[in-house]
Amino acid sequence: MEKCIQITIDGPSASGKSTVAKKIAKKLGFTHLDTGAIYRAIALFYKQENLLDASDKEQEDALDRFSYYFIGKLDDKHHYLDGQDVTEKLRSREVTELSSTISTKEFVRDFATRMQRVFSQDENIVVEGRDTGSVVFPEASLKFYLDADPIERAKRRFLELKEKRGYESLTKDEISDDITKRDQRDKERELSPLICPKGAMHIDTTKLSVQEIVDTMVNKAKKKKYPKSFSSRYFLTYKGKKCSFLYLLTKFCAWIYFKVFHRFEMHGAENIPLNAPAIIAANHVSVLDPPLIGITAPDVIYGLGKKALFNSKITKYWLTKINAYPVSGGVGDRDMMRKVVMLLLKGQKVMIFPEGTRSNELVVKPLKKGLALFADKGNALTIPTAVIGTEKVLPKNAKFPRLFKKVKVIYGPPISLAEIHKEIGDKKRAKEIFLERVREAIQKLIDKHK
Ligand code: DC
Repeated sequence: MEKCIQITIDGPSASGKSTVAKKIAKKLGFTHLDTGAIYRAIALFYKQENLLDASDKEQEDALDRFSYYFIGKLDDKHHYLDGQDVTEKLRSREVTELSSTISTKEFVRDFATRMQRVFSQDENIVVEGRDTGSVVFPEASLKFYLDADPIERAKRRFLELKEKRGYESLTKDEISDDITKRDQRDKERELSPLICPKGAMHIDTTKLSVQEIVDTMVNKAKKKKYPKSFSSRYFLTYKGKKCSFLYLLTKFCAWIYFKVFHRFEMHGAENIPLNAPAIIAANHVSVLDPPLIGITAPDVIYGLGKKALFNSKITKYWLTKINAYPVSGGVGDRDMMRKVVMLLLKGQKVMIFPEGTRSNELVVKPLKKGLALFADKGNALTIPTAVIGTEKVLPKNAKFPRLFKKVKVIYGPPISLAEIHKEIGDKKRAKEIFLERVREAIQKLIDKHK
């Protein structure tokens, strides 16, 4: 993988880092990562789960169920917790206060740091926070530290917040107190305190205009060469997700083929959560299954393809553009596993055929353990999916499809490994039960609709 570029911007609250970070990301075509939102989302998660007063052990274990990601970019970004849009809630005064408290805990910081690294994989990124240049990306290509006089910062925050719900009654002094308390906590905490990172350019923004700061930073950044990143490769969007022109073209052609020659049917699209990561786990009877799922799923889908298919330059180009990743087939293809988990953690949907091989009949075999690993590490729901009819159109050893045979895809209600884990307690056992429940659910859908 090419090495992508990270630009880190650290500083106290209201130092101007958010405004500046978004502008720089826009100018350079980079992704913007607001790391404070991760801490805020963890705080809100604990509040919603009634875990604010729980022991550290309980809070740490609960992070297994934490599912946060964002969709959209810059000022039009939406943050999701468990598939619910929590963009407004994250900025509430209570969550602001809670996030500053929980971010002093070691397990929270370790977790948030890992998450920031995942979000930055394969992206040119502008990251803003408190420890992004010192701890999260000590090797970042460019580091900045922004600061401003406390009176000026209180003034900026007052102007920003005075019209926001829940803040209307706050006076300038109260806002100033909030900021001072939070800064003190951020700077004095034992772990990863807010500091000017080694090698960072220190900018005092008190008397500078936003444009002046942005110009200084962009000029520095432009001197660097950067590779194309995951998100800058694509300009089109489908359901708010980036995808390539070839992806949409292939989807369109496949749609026409399946409609004209196989009168395809789809049921249960409402079971696919639009704003949550999900694993589409289907039975596998034909090479036509991936395109059939690709056209019927109401979202952008990623999938895996045999490594050999990527040998020719043309197929490699096409497969990459339609969101397929090579898999060597062997157990423990770690690169592939990491990629799938990364996609899920970024809120995407991945299609998996968990039986591990194509079969000739509509009987679902025991599922591979990898599915449970993806659901666990990717914090994703699993959608049991039945594909019916393709085993007659293009079975395992057939060369040409038999036309005018009907095909169907049925999406069942999501199954959550996290919920089973919560119910059962033991993780290993929860994974076994999960795999069996998904297998049974796929089989039931097949039996009902075939
Ligand atoms: O940037 P913000 O105000 O949204 O951050 C909310 C809190 O999260 C902040 O008070 C401290 C914490 N935080 C942190 O500890 N490290 C970061 N990199 C970002 C935020």
